[in-house]
Amino acid sequence: MPYAHITGWGMAVPQKVLTNDDLSKFVDTNDKWIREMTGIHERHIAGEGETSATLGTDAAYEAIKMAGILPTELDLIICSTSSPEHIFPATACLIQDKLGASNAGAFDLSAACSGFIYAINMGAQAIKSGSVKTVLIIGTETLSRFVDWKDRSTCILFGDGAGAFVLQASDKPGGIMGCVMHSDGSGGEFLSVPAGGSAHPASEITLHTGQHFIHMNGKEVFRFATRVMAQATIEATTKSGWKEEELALIIPHQANLRIIEAAARGLKMPMDKFMVNLDRYGNTSTASIPIATVEAVASGRLKAGDKVVFVGFGAGLTWGALAAEWSGPVPSDHFIKPEWFRPWARLRSILRRILRILDGIFFGRGA
Ligand code: UT7
Repeated sequence: MPYAHITGWGMAVPQKVLTNDDLSKFVDTNDKWIREMTGIHERHIAGEGETSATLGTDAAYEAIKMAGILPTELDLIICSTSSPEHIFPATACLIQDKLGASNAGAFDLSAACSGFIYAINMGAQAIKSGSVKTVLIIGTETLSRFVDWKDRSTCILFGDGAGAFVLQASDKPGGIMGCVMHSDGSGGEFLSVPAGGSAHPASEITLHTGQHFIHMNGKEVFRFATRVMAQATIEATTKSGWKEEELALIIPHQANLRIIEAAARGLKMPMDKFMVNLDRYGNTSTASIPIATVEAVASGRLKAGDKVVFVGFGAGLTWGALAAEWSGPVPSDHFIKPEWFRPWARLRSILRRILRILDGIFFGRGA
């Protein structure tokens, strides 16, 4: 059975930064409260033309470049997001087109902030089963588009961004090890966007009552998160045959510094074992773990051979943890740079659209 190694990683965030002081100019809040209650100082917010697909594509190109592969080598693209471009088509397919990943299947995965962990596990299992060799995992969010900017209990928390991993099959032991995935739908109402789906399709009423915005019971989510983070970390570590002391780093979902501190207390581990960068990005939901990973590698906190656990929680309710032996990039002999594919992917997409029109004109069958 092949192993699934993380061989590429990348991230992308919008240019625009919104500080706590900026927020306090249009909502009743202040920098002191936000820092003390969450640890967040600022977040990035998508501007015009920046969407979950564009950020996801930028992060994906970085990851592909790091792995030294071509977009055409991808067999599967899994995009975890709670802020997809549309209900359908899948954001993963839009990214597939922007990458020119002409040999890849593509689908979205919805498990909120736990989604990246679920998605890595699905990609790794597909590799281990032998059905695919190279998988792109993307976590991308523009939750700022679903936030009620008048609701101070939620608008201070979220930021936009994307992260991506490339997983590749190898006979060399290591890579993705134990993973646990949990859910409890009985707590679904604690964090939701009530309208816009089949239960409450968008209407004048849902718009006027703000049901298309994120609704959250912060206290309940907080209680749930502090209960499950340490427990899930232990489960994934044990499943991998490791002990907690062997872990070089824990990369938690970046929601609230107090939740991460509670997890550290639960695990009886010092805070320097935990990667934290939510001060600069806020809660980017499913993108928070890959963004934190990219910065952990860049700062030398995560190195080849290290044992790491990713752990997260979110709407659903969902939670989970995944243990991995960090592989590092594999040397590549490609002389074509993946970023050269960007203009080619655009041209390919236009040509396919033109061909489809011509096909309809010359070979279309009337009803
Ligand atoms: O990816 C998962 C996403 N969700 C989460 O991780 C959320 C988890 N929950 C939390 O992080 C916390 O519940 C929050 C940080 C959101 C809120 O902390 P809290 O301890 O649950 O505060 P609270 O909502 O009970 O509010 C405490 C006080 C209230 O004032 P009074 O009634 O005590 O006078 C609020 O009105 O703080 C007030 N408050 C604020 N003050 C200034 C609430 N939000 C704000 C604000 N600025 N933004």
